[in-house]
Amino acid sequence: MRVLFIAPAYPAEMPEFVRGLAEVGATVIGVGDSPVQAVPQSVRRYLSDYLQVPKMFDEDDLVRRVVEWARPRNIDRVEALWEPLVIAAARIREVLNMPGMSADTVRGFRDKQLMKERIRAAGLRVPHSARVRTAADAWAAAERIGFPLILKPIAGAGSADTHRCNTPAELEAALRTMRHVTEASCEEFVDGEEFTYDTICVGGRPVYENVAQYLPRPLIARTNEWISPVIITVRNLDQPAIRPGLALGRGVLDALGMGTGFTHMEWYRKSNGEVVFGEIGCRPGGARLVDQMNFTSDVDLFAEWARAVCWGHVAPLPERAYNTAIIFKRAQGRGQIRHITGLKAYLKRHGSAVMVDALLRPGQTRRDWTQTLVSDGYLIVRHPSWDGAKQMADEAARHIALFAG
Ligand SMILES: Nc1ncnc2c1ncn2[C@@H]1O[C@H](COP(=O)(O)OP(=O)(O)OP(=O)(O)O)[C@@H](O)[C@H]1O
Ligand SMILES: [Mg+2]
Repeated sequence: MRVLFIAPAYPAEMPEFVRGLAEVGATVIGVGDSPVQAVPQSVRRYLSDYLQVPKMFDEDDLVRRVVEWARPRNIDRVEALWEPLVIAAARIREVLNMPGMSADTVRGFRDKQLMKERIRAAGLRVPHSARVRTAADAWAAAERIGFPLILKPIAGAGSADTHRCNTPAELEAALRTMRHVTEASCEEFVDGEEFTYDTICVGGRPVYENVAQYLPRPLIARTNEWISPVIITVRNLDQPAIRPGLALGRGVLDALGMGTGFTHMEWYRKSNGEVVFGEIGCRPGGARLVDQMNFTSDVDLFAEWARAVCWGHVAPLPERAYNTAIIFKRAQGRGQIRHITGLKAYLKRHGSAVMVDALLRPGQTRRDWTQTLVSDGYLIVRHPSWDGAKQMADEAARHIALFAG
């Protein structure tokens, strides 16, 4: 089994998937834009070969070069788990006549308007929305959809350029800041709680499922620096608050023609219990969500994903034993971290429940919280009960503080 893996070293989680592939017996070939010597040893040790390309984001060029290189070399799979590269991987598979999702199918997971059209056509609840290319389009859509509304890029990530507009004046202001965006989605604002639905699928059938809750909703967390965003995986998926989300998620996978691999979906639950689709990608969630899921059931989903892709099945999965919370911290002040308060006491109280302490330490430089949800680091904690996990997360959010200056 020879697997070509595009972008093996970046984002941060990718080396783990490369390891997973090697562990399930695949021969892994990396494709990246850095020289092989610059690929970290932690990745290179799992690669049997490497193709350097000049540019990762000139899609036609990437497809042409990889196809040319792979054609005489008996490659069995082409995979990419980084959102901007999933269509390129599908195009390469198509040209080489390889198993895996087609470019058209993958487009359904990448284009936020197309995905909603396909999902709506299957009779599932999606926000009312329209694709807009000009300010005039946006005003026409606003007329139909009404306020409040959301305006966001069609191919967005990390809540960048996502605007909630409560009034026409706010829409006008949002349009002014979005001139560089060529295509946007204008949608009904859905008020409610926000969750993920994550899977590993084999031939469209979810063989692993997960739900996590965002606290608070990402748009709020990503626009207020003082907030410590929290995400908690839900141990018990078989409960009334969650079941309709699972049903929606499974319906979405059918509607989009999911094949084999990871998916990461977001959905809303309104106060009246109605569930509404948010968005979906055919790749895992970022910001350490795979680690969080691993801690939820003591499993190695990096390897299980690889097993699914290479061999069409996953190993028997252990039960979900924990609710696992990740708490992202943002320091006060600028520049270097100077000191941390509350951490020692927290670790003393909850040490055995703390799976990962990846907070920045004094002397390290702050990260840009607007660019990365990981911000100035994070803790991962877990507890068998939801309330236990939630309390520990709240405590870390409130009582641990990083100071920079
Ligand atoms: N129609 C909507 N109704 C309510 N809130 C919305 C809507 N669309 C987007 N949002 C808010 O904005 C956030 C970002 O939107 P979305 O998830 O579509 O974009 P993204 O930039 O791809 O996100 P991500 O941070 O997951 O990469 C959502 O998590 C949600 O909080
Ligand atoms: Mg999102």
